[in-house]
Amino acid sequence: MSDYELRASIIDGKALARTHRGMAAKRAADLQAEYGKRPGLAVVLVGDDPASRVYVRSKARACENVGLASFQHTLPADTTEAELLELIADLNASEDVHGILVQLPLPDGLNEAAVIESISPQKDVDGFHPYNMGRLVAGSPVLVPCTPLGIIELIKSTGINIEGKDAVVVGRSNIVGKPAAILLLQQNATVSICHSRTARLHEKVRAADIVVASVGKAGFVRGDWIKEGAVVIDVGINRTEDNRLTGDVDFEGAAKRAAFITPVPGGVGPMTIAMLMCNTVRAAERIIRGTAENAGAGV
Ligand code: GUN
Repeated sequence: MSDYELRASIIDGKALARTHRGMAAKRAADLQAEYGKRPGLAVVLVGDDPASRVYVRSKARACENVGLASFQHTLPADTTEAELLELIADLNASEDVHGILVQLPLPDGLNEAAVIESISPQKDVDGFHPYNMGRLVAGSPVLVPCTPLGIIELIKSTGINIEGKDAVVVGRSNIVGKPAAILLLQQNATVSICHSRTARLHEKVRAADIVVASVGKAGFVRGDWIKEGAVVIDVGINRTEDNRLTGDVDFEGAAKRAAFITPVPGGVGPMTIAMLMCNTVRAAERIIRGTAENAGAGV
C-alpha cells in the first residue's frame, strides 16, 4: 500500500494509552500521598494458554509503569473450581488488593459465570460481574469493561461528536460487543449490534458512521463495506500464518475510505490495558476513600 492511497488518519492507540496511564499514575500517587496506600491489582491465570500469558505479562508491566502493586497468581490447568473460588475469596478479603482480574477464557470444566460472580463487584475491574453489567445497562455505571471504555476514548480522540451518529458494532460478546454498544448508546449514537446471523451485514456496515469490529476473524470486515469518512475501530487480534498480528478489518481497503482507523497492533490493545489501570485506580479510590470516610464517620 502506498501512502498515496491511504486516506484515513491512523488513530494512535499507544500514544493515547500513554496519556491515560499517566492520568492513572497521578491518581494513584495522590491516593498514596493521602492514605499511604498503593492500589493493587491481582491477576489470576489458570492454565498455560500462550496468548493469555502474553496479556497477563503486559498487565503486570503496566502496573509497574503506573505505580500499582501487582499480584500474579498462576494456577495449573487442572485447578478445580473450588480451588479457584477459594483463591478469589482470599483476594476479595485482602486489604492490599483493590482489583481482581481472572484471565479468560478459563480451561474447560471451570464455570466462567460462577467464577465471575464470585469476584466482589467492588473489585471487579473487568466490569463483567452481573452487578456491574446491570449498572451499565441501567445507565449508572461503576466499573465498566476495559476494551469498550478504550473504544469510546479512541473514538473521542478523533474529535468527532458521537451524538446522532449511526454506529454498527459487529460482535455481541459480553466482553466487548454488548458493553461497547451500551456505551455508544449512552453517547447518543444510534446503535445496531450485528453478529453471525445478521442478514446483509455489508449493507448495515456501509451505512455506519462508526464501525466497531469485534468478531475474531482476520479481515472479516471488507474495505469496500466502509462508508466514506467513517471511524473504524478494529478490536480483532488475529495471528497470521507468518505470525503477524492482524485485525478483523481489511485495513488497507478500509483505510482508503475511512476518515479514522485504528491499527492492529497499536490501537485498541494498549487502550484496553490503560483502561484496566484506570479501573484499578477507580476501584481503589472507592474502597480506600469509602473505608476512610466510614472510619471517620464511626461506621
Ligand atoms: N480475555 C480477553 N479479553 C479479556 C479481558 O478483557 N478480561 C479478561 N479477564 N480476560 C480477557
